[in-house]
Amino acid sequence: MRVVILGSGRGSNAEAILEAQRAGRLGRAQVGQILSDRADAGILALGPRFGVPAAFLDPAPFKTKLEGEGEARYIAAIRALAPDLIVLAGFMRVLKPGFLQAFAGKVINLHPSLLPSFPGLDAIGQAFRRGVKITGCTVHEVTPEVDGGPILDQMAVRIESDDTLETLTAKVHAAEHALLPAVIARLSGG
Ligand code: GAR
Repeated sequence: MRVVILGSGRGSNAEAILEAQRAGRLGRAQVGQILSDRADAGILALGPRFGVPAAFLDPAPFKTKLEGEGEARYIAAIRALAPDLIVLAGFMRVLKPGFLQAFAGKVINLHPSLLPSFPGLDAIGQAFRRGVKITGCTVHEVTPEVDGGPILDQMAVRIESDDTLETLTAKVHAAEHALLPAVIARLSGG
């Protein structure tokens, strides 16, 4: 199962996927490419470390969504790779129907809350400020409704009375690093 990872940030989840692959815990999945919409994203440094091609791909002209010329560039580049699965690991752009129709049923996203609670940006902060006692992370299929696609799996994290936003963030990230590779392995049939 050929996997393409899209990310915008430091890439700790992409790293967890690649570590799982290295350890033989990613089933039949094999990461073939990392793409980032930010030239300075930490995720791109994973390429040389793990021997996987990693590249910035210009998402212009929009700032928070992938549409128009940028979308066309992503569709063409990813089509050429013929992936079976596209994993959004901290890809901070809304995907539009053009992209989702080009890769129907193949795009999954990681979100740092127990959806449908706290969709959108700063989900960990939203949960912390709301005072919920349990939050977590979700892997779901991507549909045009932001953070609204069918849920594939979730992992819960308890918020203790002495948790700060920083300790909670660390706990949610640790849960993500366990959940996302496990879902990919499962989808690969491994
Ligand atoms: C992760 O916490 C992921 O859930 C979140 O971005 C972070 C990326 O971290 N994604 C979203 O909020 C998507 N709406 P990483 O770059 O270290 O993997």
